[in-house]
Amino acid sequence: MKMMAARFALCVHVARAATWSPMRVLGHGLARSLSSDTDFSGIKERTLVAVKPDGVQRRLIGEVIKRFEQRGFRLVGLKMLQASDKLLAQHYVSLQRKPFYSSLLYYMTSGPIVAMVWEGHNVVRSSRMLVGDTDPAEAAPGTIRGDFSVHISRNVIHASDSVEGAEREISLWFHRSELIDWEGCDHKNIYHII
Ligand code: PPS
Repeated sequence: MKMMAARFALCVHVARAATWSPMRVLGHGLARSLSSDTDFSGIKERTLVAVKPDGVQRRLIGEVIKRFEQRGFRLVGLKMLQASDKLLAQHYVSLQRKPFYSSLLYYMTSGPIVAMVWEGHNVVRSSRMLVGDTDPAEAAPGTIRGDFSVHISRNVIHASDSVEGAEREISLWFHRSELIDWEGCDHKNIYHII
């Protein structure tokens, strides 16, 4: 048990985003072995993913997390919340003139939401592929919407549609201190080029 704990401590170093420093958390040699010299560029890309109220009610939180984890992305933020009208109005600001806007807000406030931030190379684009088309009728089987949803007004999950959009949405849903910068044991296998 002690050995497992020590191994875990060596493999995974966790620090608050604001104070993260591998040199501070680890010894110099180990920090160097975890440095990003040979990493792909852009592996720190982040996106906002939210399991919508219908997804929570249908007990799909675990399924969604499983799909992002098994793809190799890293969970850096997670919370369940009852979203306020104010937050949703900011989140969906570009949709205010759409005919479905009020029913979208009604639906999004009908129950708790699980908001997450996932990190990894091309995570914004890859998330949209994992999630599937906005309209479940167009979503391919194997995608989250293609497997679990039948109507656009109850499409289980949200994922940011661009890197800029993701940055905006993450800052709406999460405080900086709620995001954890960490590196897992598998980092080298996934991201080191050499
Ligand atoms: S649009 O019209 O092209 O700008 O909209 P779209 O990009 O397809 O979808 C944006 C979000 O609006 C949701 N949506 C709806 N909700 C309820 N009812 C209807 N009819 C409807 N049509 C679109 C859609 O699920 C998108 O939500 P998010 O959370 O961004 O995935």
